[in-house]
Amino acid sequence: MMKALTWHGKHDVRVESVPEPEIIAGRDVIVRITSTAICGSDLHLYDGMMPTMESGDVLGHEPMGEVVEVGPEIRNLKVGDRVVVPFTISCGTCRYCKMGLFSLCDTSNPNAEMARKVMGQSPAGLFGYSHMLGGFAGGQAQYLRVPFADVGPIKVPDHLTDEQVLFLSDIFPTGYMAAENAEIGPGDTVAVWGCGPVGQFCIQSAWMFKAGRVIAIDGVPERLEMARNCGKAETIDTTKEHVRERLMEMTNGQGPDRCIDAVGTEAHVGGSFDSVLDRAKEAVMLGTDRPHVLRETILCCRKGGTISVAGVYLGFLDKIPFGAFMNKALTMKSGQTHVQRYLKPLMEKIEKGEINPAFVITHTVSLDEAPEMYKTFRDKKDGCIKVVLKPNA
Ligand SMILES: NC(=O)c1ccc[n+]([C@@H]2O[C@H](COP(=O)([O-])OP(=O)(O)OC[C@H]3O[C@@H](n4cnc5c(N)ncnc54)[C@H](O)[C@@H]3O)[C@@H](O)[C@H]2O)c1
Ligand SMILES: [Zn+2]
Ligand SMILES: [Zn+2]
Repeated sequence: MMKALTWHGKHDVRVESVPEPEIIAGRDVIVRITSTAICGSDLHLYDGMMPTMESGDVLGHEPMGEVVEVGPEIRNLKVGDRVVVPFTISCGTCRYCKMGLFSLCDTSNPNAEMARKVMGQSPAGLFGYSHMLGGFAGGQAQYLRVPFADVGPIKVPDHLTDEQVLFLSDIFPTGYMAAENAEIGPGDTVAVWGCGPVGQFCIQSAWMFKAGRVIAIDGVPERLEMARNCGKAETIDTTKEHVRERLMEMTNGQGPDRCIDAVGTEAHVGGSFDSVLDRAKEAVMLGTDRPHVLRETILCCRKGGTISVAGVYLGFLDKIPFGAFMNKALTMKSGQTHVQRYLKPLMEKIEKGEINPAFVITHTVSLDEAPEMYKTFRDKKDGCIKVVLKPNA
């Protein structure tokens, strides 16, 4: 048996003893987890927004550790290797994997039929992220079974610490893909909604794509401070300023060239009429999401600009100003991150010292403290920005 963080319903996660994973397919490996993180995406599960979760599901999709067992078909990894594991499970050989669209893998979701009913087609299976997306046990546990391990995990050189490379599993590639999807050109003004861990990596990545200005938007003081200090961004505080008016002032009435939504479905309910309505509809189960930020990006973006949606949305969104989107000739790109595509190039940036992703970490605790830390992270208490768990410490 091993210790794992399990989901039991809204705001109910527990550390429990569960059976250790075993190799069940030739391309599996088992990883003993040394470090694993809590993600903003986990909060959608914690807050009970994501359908098809079952009591006892093991959470977590930002893991790394040491390979302790390899399946008979694995040639690229051996026992003792240190690896970071992408949150996307991808076969490497289907049409989508071949195009580099790893989060759209056609074969890794055994419950594809469930996803098809809701989305038309099924995206890839994800670790610890509902039965509709595969029902795979997650990595907030002492051990993790990694399917298709000849495609996903990347080996880590000895001289890099867990903290330097852990976020290759999700949030660094996610911020980077968000910046790439934003189609940033040299000198562009980029606005980033949300200064959580994902927003921080969007800001860092926007500069890598040669942005001229980065404007970061949030309402949490220490997150705005990190955006200014580590991200060299200008900031807008949603608790004190009107976002659209302020953005127009800052851009000569034009609006930002590129807008990145790094908030997603759980936008704060502010004073705005639409966000209050979202909350009310959600409370009576009439709405699945609170897409206030998505609306705001469409209304703020300059004509002919691009909106990149990294924040996760779940269902059928309401009151999207699609007329503005169409008439302003905007482009929108989105997706769960094709993590495998970015592992090597971003590992190189870390090795060269161009970035140390550890800057977002504010809390490092044992797995036993995970339930408490979910709450702290969700409520943004104690200056919490990113939590790293040590399940085997
Ligand atoms: N596309 C992907 O593959 C992928 C991967 C990881 C995370 N995500 C998603 O990215 C989003 C952010 O993740 P995170 O880990 O940074 O989460 P987080 O919850 O820590 O950060 C969200 C931030 O948005 C801010 N916010 C809320 N309402 C806002 C508003 N109206 N305007 C501006 N800011 C607002 C919050 O204060 C918070 O700082 C989540 O939706 C998560 O699911 C997507
Ligand atoms: Zn994540
Ligand atoms: Zn595939």
